Amino acid sequence: MTITMTPIFAKAYPPEEVFFTADDCENRNEPTKVLLCTPEYFEVKEGNNVYMQNNIGRVNKEKAKEQWNHLHTLYLQLKSAEIIEDVFVVDGAEDFEDMVFCANQSFPWTTWGGEKIVVMSNMKHESRQNEVVYFEDFYKDHGYKIFNIQSRYHFEGMGDMVPHPAKRLLYGGYGLRTDKQVYDEISRMLDTPILLLELINENFYHLDTCFLPLNANEVIIAPGAFSDESLVIIKKMFEAVYEIPFHEATDGFACNAHIVYGHKSKSAAIIQKNNPVTLNILQQNSFKVLETDTSEFIKSGGSVFCMKMMVY
Ligand code: ARG
Repeated sequence: MTITMTPIFAKAYPPEEVFFTADDCENRNEPTKVLLCTPEYFEVKEGNNVYMQNNIGRVNKEKAKEQWNHLHTLYLQLKSAEIIEDVFVVDGAEDFEDMVFCANQSFPWTTWGGEKIVVMSNMKHESRQNEVVYFEDFYKDHGYKIFNIQSRYHFEGMGDMVPHPAKRLLYGGYGLRTDKQVYDEISRMLDTPILLLELINENFYHLDTCFLPLNANEVIIAPGAFSDESLVIIKKMFEAVYEIPFHEATDGFACNAHIVYGHKSKSAAIIQKNNPVTLNILQQNSFKVLETDTSEFIKSGGSVFCMKMMVY
């Protein structure tokens, strides 16, 4: 007798409807290329998150450029080491001071057949809404099929929707930037189940500020970021859940590290410097860990993960 696995239906799952584990979901290849956006117009102009509120007009632009250049250099080194396949750069546009955070304007994915697809974001703040078209142009040039959200609900791309490593399974953060109601439409576009995770602390306004999967079994989270029901789901999906100190998650943006699930099965991690507890967890996992300083970008509420997009 052959046993066939029923595919997990593509829809948005509230905690009470999650009767499967990540193992029940299909396997998936990780993207292998990095997209960055240059920082020449980066600054903090308004208080769209708690970090920005204390830092309006306080970005040292020269220092920001140096920090961005260092991050760019690290990615070029990962390319030389064949951990990633390529590094693309989109030019930042005048008047779009947050465009450098290129995790937010889109969510690239592939179909079951391997076709490249992308959902373009519907950003909450007016100051960011028109960033999206610049990235749409990038995806058009790179052969993606583009999806636009048809409803009025907000969605902030990879900032709020994070994949389970190597699985066709997504986590959709909501409550502060992205609307919960948007995820049914997105799950249909991507033909992939999305587990809803409620964010309840304004220090962790995007899922990528408090949720960092290391591999298919282990995840790092920030304390106090999730509702109790959402925490139950995270513990159901990952064998090990590491909670890091609050100050590493907020001052150090440690959950916003970038785990590069490498090309040719090599992996690496890039993380904001001075996060010893998180660094130790990554090193125990035998990642090649690269530290960098993104302090000027943390003034705007973003670090490494927000400053890049993995693309196919
Ligand atoms: N200043 C930006 C904002 O508030 C920061 C975005 C950070 N990006 C992220 N993926 N968490 O929108």
